[in-house]
Amino acid sequence: MSDLGVIARRMAREHPTPFYVIDVKQIRSNANALRSAWAEVFPGARCMYSYKTNPLSAICRQLRALGYGAEVVSDMELRWAISDGFVGADIALNGPAKTRAEIALAAGVGATIQVDGCRDVRLVRDAALSAPSEIRLVARIATDVRGEYSRFGMTPAELDEATSMIRGIGLTWHGVHVHLGGIVRDAGRHISAICDSARLLRDIIMERGSVVLNLGGGFGPASAAELQRSTRPIAQAIHQALFALEVDSKCVVVTLEPGRSIVEKAAALVANVLSVKERTDCRIATLNVASNLLPTRCYRTHPIDFGRGPLEASYLLAGPQCFEDDIIVRDALGLPIWATATFCR
Ligand SMILES: Cc1ncc(COP(=O)(O)O)c(C=O)c1O
Repeated sequence: MSDLGVIARRMAREHPTPFYVIDVKQIRSNANALRSAWAEVFPGARCMYSYKTNPLSAICRQLRALGYGAEVVSDMELRWAISDGFVGADIALNGPAKTRAEIALAAGVGATIQVDGCRDVRLVRDAALSAPSEIRLVARIATDVRGEYSRFGMTPAELDEATSMIRGIGLTWHGVHVHLGGIVRDAGRHISAICDSARLLRDIIMERGSVVLNLGGGFGPASAAELQRSTRPIAQAIHQALFALEVDSKCVVVTLEPGRSIVEKAAALVANVLSVKERTDCRIATLNVASNLLPTRCYRTHPIDFGRGPLEASYLLAGPQCFEDDIIVRDALGLPIWATATFCR
């Protein structure tokens, strides 16, 4: 059993469930490991913690103390980041559903705005009228998802339109943002997105002397050692690709937005079984946690540590809410006391 499992088990005897246990020391070492793997290849590499993963102050402030920035996707997260002590230069506002108010607030504090489409540019145009200084804009590029452009970011045509709009209000791009979803195993898709953006990267360097290349998150939940091992070759391959594309890597500020990769394995959701029912084809265990506390449960297997067992029997683990989707795991061998998870402030 992991250290976290031992602590969770002890705490479950002392405190009423459900609750989360977070190993902040582990988060710190994961955060340092990820950043140092990239900094070996790109010495100026920056990390911005993805607030949506878990915006607890106890985590975010620790990451700020380590030199992380904050990536936020809503007005509330932006306000939390500010109250956690992040200054504008260390905040990036991202997401496809920005509001006028959050763009104005982000511009006002000098945060970077990662533009998802022309709608964002229209809101930026309004904010620009009252912004004290130049607004830092990064263009989020739509990536290839099984032969189709992703719903996030801009296609080349949308980027052209957004570029002429921002030029029309006297602004230019500071960089390019590419996020490839939840599972990045190698550099292949990053490299193809970088190839597509090479001209823009070179143009921004020519104009400003440097360019932000934000590679998003998606490096997968891992231990500190695994993060170093898995991401270093990705950084090296991207470095080589930039060289081949004649993009001067010394002028590239590589930026990452880790979330689950640094937090997920350092957190556990502790729950109890409320009841067990026998049905013809399964046993149903109802837990005192609902599936909304495990937002990624459909896509990822969260390791489960068993309070008694593992038993021979297989259980459907359900939450207590009366809607069909409140299923936590369909086929658990044994009754769990805790499962790793991401969670809420
Ligand atoms: C734009 C963006 N950046 C960063 C992240 C964080 O990625 P992860 O939690 O996989 O580390 C996400 C997660 O979906 C994202 O959408």
